[in-house]
Amino acid sequence: MLNRRGTLKLGAVAGVALALPAERLVSAVTGSAPKVAAFQQQLPIPPVLSPVYSDRSTDYYEMTIKQATAEILPGVQTNVLTFNGSFPGPTIKATKGRAIKVTVTNGGDSPAAVHLHGGNVPHDSDGHPLDVIQPGKSRTYDYPNAQRAGTLWYHDHAHHLESEHIYRGLAGMYLIEDRTEAPTLPRGQFDIPLMFRDVALDDQGQLLWGNFDADRRNILLVNGVPQPQLKVRRRLYRLRLANVSNDRLMKVKLSNGAEFLQIGTDGGLMARPVRRTEIGLFPAERVDVVVDFSNVAGGSQVKLINSLGENPGCTEVMAFQVTEGARRGQPDDDDASVPQKLSVLPPIGAPVMTTRKVVLSFDFQNAVFMINGKTYDPQRVDFTVKRGSTEIWEVTNADPDPIPHSMHVHLVQFRVLDRDGKPVEPWEAYPKDTVSIPSGQTVRILIKWDSQFTGIYPFHCHFVGHSSMAMMAQVNIVP
Ligand code: C2O
Ligand code: CU
Repeated sequence: MLNRRGTLKLGAVAGVALALPAERLVSAVTGSAPKVAAFQQQLPIPPVLSPVYSDRSTDYYEMTIKQATAEILPGVQTNVLTFNGSFPGPTIKATKGRAIKVTVTNGGDSPAAVHLHGGNVPHDSDGHPLDVIQPGKSRTYDYPNAQRAGTLWYHDHAHHLESEHIYRGLAGMYLIEDRTEAPTLPRGQFDIPLMFRDVALDDQGQLLWGNFDADRRNILLVNGVPQPQLKVRRRLYRLRLANVSNDRLMKVKLSNGAEFLQIGTDGGLMARPVRRTEIGLFPAERVDVVVDFSNVAGGSQVKLINSLGENPGCTEVMAFQVTEGARRGQPDDDDASVPQKLSVLPPIGAPVMTTRKVVLSFDFQNAVFMINGKTYDPQRVDFTVKRGSTEIWEVTNADPDPIPHSMHVHLVQFRVLDRDGKPVEPWEAYPKDTVSIPSGQTVRILIKWDSQFTGIYPFHCHFVGHSSMAMMAQVNIVP
């Protein structure tokens, strides 16, 4: 059952908020540990949604928000809130330049709004916090897909309810594909979304919920189950890592010391691949990698390790079970490779017209999260920006260690210029829609408002425990 009390009540006692999510302080109350053996369940792949109808320019989809049960632990039915009964939601596969319209019916018992995270969409399809679908009603979202291919996701954004809704299951992947871009990358069954998020379960296997109880969410799921295994061949795989946790930080590596070849970030492919041994993921960040299993012995296991895990299940996140046999040449194998030149990135925008300061802070007195000293008011415009202009935002986390924040800007992909004046690594420079802002740091981002759309769009911290408690503001984009 959904109820708002958890959120509101916990807001009131937000002294607790300081046992903040990412620090994983040991909490007095913890969820019960999963009673499952590691690496026994197969990794589920969320179903790909099929259009109900297509015409020359557009594919039409339908989804229903509804209560359902999911088998998070084997043999245990957990009540969840879903798109189409699927936990996580179905994957929508779009093609660059071909529009999608999704009609969403709210079969739940609280208002919901669907936001396409990373999407360049009209403001009335952006899932603004007040622009909700009431229970029993439907609405249609327009997704033009007039943007670079990339690994996006969709999730609820209803005012004050989003963190509970996302936690209960209202999130799914949205992949925009472009067949002309780096066509040799692994595809189809060798291109796997990995959605990471945590839950707390009671001893009946039901979700425990409180906006500030991130500390007890001690079970880490991949595509909806803890510690799954994926059978892989001795070849290249594309893995789309997405941390869709409400409040959890992750840092992942492979147990055999092998490297990831990072090919993309939040908003699509990078110019060139970058080798990485360990990858940090703040909530809502996506990192697109290729992993080469061709030199791994058949029959062995490579684990995905989260070095920020607070227990074995959150540390040994999943396993890749490498099958015996030839490296390649199985009938449905393709000849995948990673080109040295992945993509041509758009040029940096025209002269910077405006510089803005954005300060993220927690108000200890009133137990609320703020941007520039203000809590979110969905009726207020915080910044008016000119469409087509280029701005620099200096985003500061004014909170003491260890209260991390992040900055997510709707509608556009931005460039991260520097952290406390030091230029960032290429893998976190561009294209990004969410950037980590650790305690005390100032991160400068360059935003070119290059969308054709105007209107009101939010920006916020993407620890959804913070954004749903007011760490959100909005821009009005004017022609
Ligand atoms: Cu992923 Cu405003 O959201
Ligand atoms: Cu925050």
